[in-house]
Amino acid sequence: MKIGIDKASFFTPPTYVDMVELAEARDVDPNKYLIGIGQEKMGIADKAYDVVAMAANAAQQILSDEDKEEIDMVLFATETGVDFSKAGATWLHDLLGIQPYARSIELKQACYSATAGIQLAMGHIALHPESKVLVLASDIAKYGVNTGGEPTQGAGAVAMLLSANPNILALETESASYTADIDDFWRPTYSDYAYVDGKYSNEAYLNTLMATWNHYKEKQKAELSDFETLLFHVPYTKMGRKALQALEDELDEETSARFNEYYEAAIVYNNIVGNIYTGSLYLSLISLLEQAENLKAGARIGMFSYGSGAVGEFFVGELQEDYQDYLMRETHEELLDHRTKLSISEYEEILSNPVEIDEEGNATIDVQEVSPQNFVFVGVDQHRRQYDKASNVKQ
Ligand code: HMG
Repeated sequence: MKIGIDKASFFTPPTYVDMVELAEARDVDPNKYLIGIGQEKMGIADKAYDVVAMAANAAQQILSDEDKEEIDMVLFATETGVDFSKAGATWLHDLLGIQPYARSIELKQACYSATAGIQLAMGHIALHPESKVLVLASDIAKYGVNTGGEPTQGAGAVAMLLSANPNILALETESASYTADIDDFWRPTYSDYAYVDGKYSNEAYLNTLMATWNHYKEKQKAELSDFETLLFHVPYTKMGRKALQALEDELDEETSARFNEYYEAAIVYNNIVGNIYTGSLYLSLISLLEQAENLKAGARIGMFSYGSGAVGEFFVGELQEDYQDYLMRETHEELLDHRTKLSISEYEEILSNPVEIDEEGNATIDVQEVSPQNFVFVGVDQHRRQYDKASNVKQ
């Protein structure tokens, strides 16, 4: 039985920062951000778009009434959680109208945890072929104003429906995973911002790529030319180029040219959304499928997932017949084309202005820049987070 991704979509908030303007404000050559880092725009989430609201917006684009009856597990992957105890998945289960007899949990391991969700979903569906599992990945990447990591921020969510006999990508059961206890990037519970040892994190990413690929290669007697192309976790688009470079010695000329060409399609969305941590690999997958030409059913795609701290996995998917009919290219392009550019001072204000809870545990969020059908975080009522459709919120 084939198991894999039946539907997939993403959401990013309606505001962004232009990287040339950010470079000018930081007195940096814009080409450092545009070419050296490889980012043109960076999605910015104001308070109305927390990780739950973003994930709900990504998911509502793909779920039919039938799906909502058949989903029996909601796995919410994030490293921007809004509660230490309650899983974001419980709000999502409610907002999305999923039938009550479901498991709903939150998963954490930096950018890797959506891949953990996918692996759990595969095991669950193998035991219960009639089940559908909703895997959500949602994050706000925040290093702070004027920090080394600032040009590698971003915000967004990916929603994927996993099922038996999937319409888009069947996932193979064999993969190679790897764990090493390191401090390359982390966010202690007392900090709003991530700590990062930037250069070391790049090294750790590449070491983990080689460890997982070498292990997979050995176990499966595989070669890179077995794949139509590769996808990577994309914290910034230059990182995937470094990954391809690290594998270059194993690539013949034709395979190298093919991988590099597909990589351009695989970063169209990441280049203008930024790092969305848990969702970044899957945003790249959606970008590849929606933007590449000549990618045919039957193509095998090797995927590398990386989460600092660190856990990585190399795994493989096979494109299904007529997968193009199940993509949402127009919806995604429209979302990206209709964003509003923030000035650098507006962006700095958003970043340095957290939700203020009063003594009674209440907060009201000023909801701006929304489409009426979007879910938004509207405030806190006696320490209880509240979400609603924007059309129900007075603006
Ligand atoms: P930095 O010190 O600002 O940049 O750090 P740099 O000086 O190394 O320059 C970056 C690149 O720009 C270099 O190219 C320069 O040569 C080039 P490279 O050597 O890398 O090929 N450059 C220029 N190019 C053209 N024209 C110019 C120019 N000037 C310089 N004028 C760094 C960059 C990415 C390290 C920093 O932004 C950072 O710390 N970011 C956050 C950490 C990160 O994203 N790490 C990635 C791997 S870890 C990971 O992916 C996990 C993560 O997603 C978290 C999770 O798992 O949850 C982060």
